[in-house]
Amino acid sequence: MSAQRNILVTSALPNANGSIHLGHLLEHIQTDIWVRFQRMRGHRCIYVCADDTHGTATMLKAEQEGITPEALIERVRAEHVQDFQGFLIAHDNYYSTHSDENQRHVEEIYRKLDTRGYIFTKSVEQLYDPERGLFLADRFVKGICPSCGADDQYGDNCEQCGATYEATELKSPRSTISGATPVLKSSEHYFFDLPQFADMLRTWTRSGTLQPEVANKLAEWLDGGLRAWDISRDAPYFGFLIPGTTDKYFYVWMDAPIGYMASFDNLCQRSNELNFDDYWAEGSDAEVHHFIGKDIINFHALFWPAVLEGSDHRKPTRIHTHGFVTVDGTKMSKSRGTFINAATYLEHLTPEYLRYYYASKLNGTVDDVDISLDDFVQRVNSDLVGKVVNIASRCAGFIQKGSDGRLGSHIHDEALWLDFRKAVEPIAAHYEKGNFARAVREIAALADRANQYIAGHAPWTLAKDPANAQLVQDICTQGLNLFRVLIGLLKPILPATAEKSEAFLNIPPLTWPHLEDFLVEHRINSFQPLLTRLERKQLDALIEASRETAAPASADGGTPDAEDTSTLIDFDTFAQVDLRVARIVAAETIDGADKLLRLQLDLGGDQCQVLAGIKPAYPDPQALVGRLTVVVANLKPRKMKFGESQGMVLAAGPGGKDLFLLSPDSGAEPGMPVQ
Ligand code: MSP
Ligand code: ZN
Repeated sequence: MSAQRNILVTSALPNANGSIHLGHLLEHIQTDIWVRFQRMRGHRCIYVCADDTHGTATMLKAEQEGITPEALIERVRAEHVQDFQGFLIAHDNYYSTHSDENQRHVEEIYRKLDTRGYIFTKSVEQLYDPERGLFLADRFVKGICPSCGADDQYGDNCEQCGATYEATELKSPRSTISGATPVLKSSEHYFFDLPQFADMLRTWTRSGTLQPEVANKLAEWLDGGLRAWDISRDAPYFGFLIPGTTDKYFYVWMDAPIGYMASFDNLCQRSNELNFDDYWAEGSDAEVHHFIGKDIINFHALFWPAVLEGSDHRKPTRIHTHGFVTVDGTKMSKSRGTFINAATYLEHLTPEYLRYYYASKLNGTVDDVDISLDDFVQRVNSDLVGKVVNIASRCAGFIQKGSDGRLGSHIHDEALWLDFRKAVEPIAAHYEKGNFARAVREIAALADRANQYIAGHAPWTLAKDPANAQLVQDICTQGLNLFRVLIGLLKPILPATAEKSEAFLNIPPLTWPHLEDFLVEHRINSFQPLLTRLERKQLDALIEASRETAAPASADGGTPDAEDTSTLIDFDTFAQVDLRVARIVAAETIDGADKLLRLQLDLGGDQCQVLAGIKPAYPDPQALVGRLTVVVANLKPRKMKFGESQGMVLAAGPGGKDLFLLSPDSGAEPGMPVQ
């Protein structure tokens, strides 16, 4: 085994204005499994997190509840801590970004960046709520969509027609906070000069710190050109004042990642062994690992390393990015009862079912993780309870009754034991790489071998004849030793079941090196049920309890679930849509438009121009030229601010940077109907 490593691990800091749900749990369970694995390997692995407390949303929510933001974030933090404990997440510290440590680090970092010439100011014009005296972020402005005329659309995109636009383009705009008509107002903003770090980032993002698909995505952004990053917000805002100002606050995303440092610093103050600089100073040989969702890659893999570099800190060793949770193939939804909060889950089910299921799906890529409800029940019952836990219950009784609780004196099937031992290190390698799904599959295959061994010898038949007592003891001794290895291998995923197993086997806490030992002539304790089967009706009750009939606005003031507003159309209506294969013959950015690209499409003779809101996903339009895609060819032309759009291209994904143009298989030709 390699020398002891010093590893600092983080999960993204959950927002302090909502509850912990299945999505956060994916991330914390993923992180926790990796952390527990490292600890079992004998490394020093520190896991810190915190609540992300700052921003307009916290301020408004506290106001709504008639309490101070401080009272709100303290209450939410206590809930979050309890939720995570319920899921056996082993944080060493769960802190808050609204802390002295964080303020100190933010100010220190800011001063360094400023001294080095990485900060500048510039006037920015933005929508402003004159009644509330507040600048309005896109999600606090609603109005009539400039493309299709639908009312009640947010300031960045239309839920009805999918158009993206600037908040200033909305017709009859209003502030969602006061209802007032916003006015344009300019103010001075502070910027971090990200483009100065472009070369460093180009190298760093290709240095094995990121999954390849993430590095590719970043290369597109880097090639598209970096822009300076606006790090200030005007008062009133819940956050930290920028030094030297009286009404400018650090934008929440400036102090949030620094919250990782602050949480660790707070832990250092309580520990004799940990030293802040050992982990964060430039040139540190400790490792820093961030676990995040794919929606916040740019903050962690562009801004954060640049801020660290610019302030003489070390950069992260690795950023582990995961996809989004879906349930039965669709986005989590309040109306379907699949938007499940941690606390509700814990009222109905044991946390290890979800830990095991997530582990069986997490393969180290950024693919979304689908919870298929039938599959969930099936995997827990047949793989976990049926294959693994069962081995212990099958063997324990014979040792208790037949051998007075004592294991035999030798290995009955040497070859099988050797195979188990040989499987241990490759499984460790899968854990290390974050391919838990592969680890779980290989553990399940070992469990199959153990079950075949026991079934092949059928101790229950042998035990009928007292002359076989020794043989029965040997078989069950081997069975329990195989079980011990299996539960040791699963311990990062199932810490509670492992602990119960250790008590029953009467052994000290299992670590990785222990997995080489075969227990002989050892007294075990009486068997206690470890993990019971999951009944489908328990899961159904959980879904029922999570169902909300009216579609409420989501807690963070963001857009409600898109499918909550979906309606059924009949086939004839659908058939009117003329879908065609098109070739992109030209693609260009449009001056002044953040999100739009101008595409020239060839429909097999006819050409048309489409303005598509895909620039965040395809910042380099040249990459699109020559490509085939699918277009709605009979859409009424729409006059937009930047020209006429004569169709619509089809893309998949939630939007913004996560948008993927559809392409036909090779062989398709421009103009072909899509059916
Ligand atoms: N506060 C920021 C993170 C700051 S880190 C310096 C934030 N908070 S969040 O509460 O919105 O999300 C926290 C983490 O949970 C993110 O990594 C996000 O990707 C993840 N998830 C939130 N919803 C999710 C799903 N539905 N599925 C999987 N993970 C998602 O972002
Ligand atoms: Zn619209």
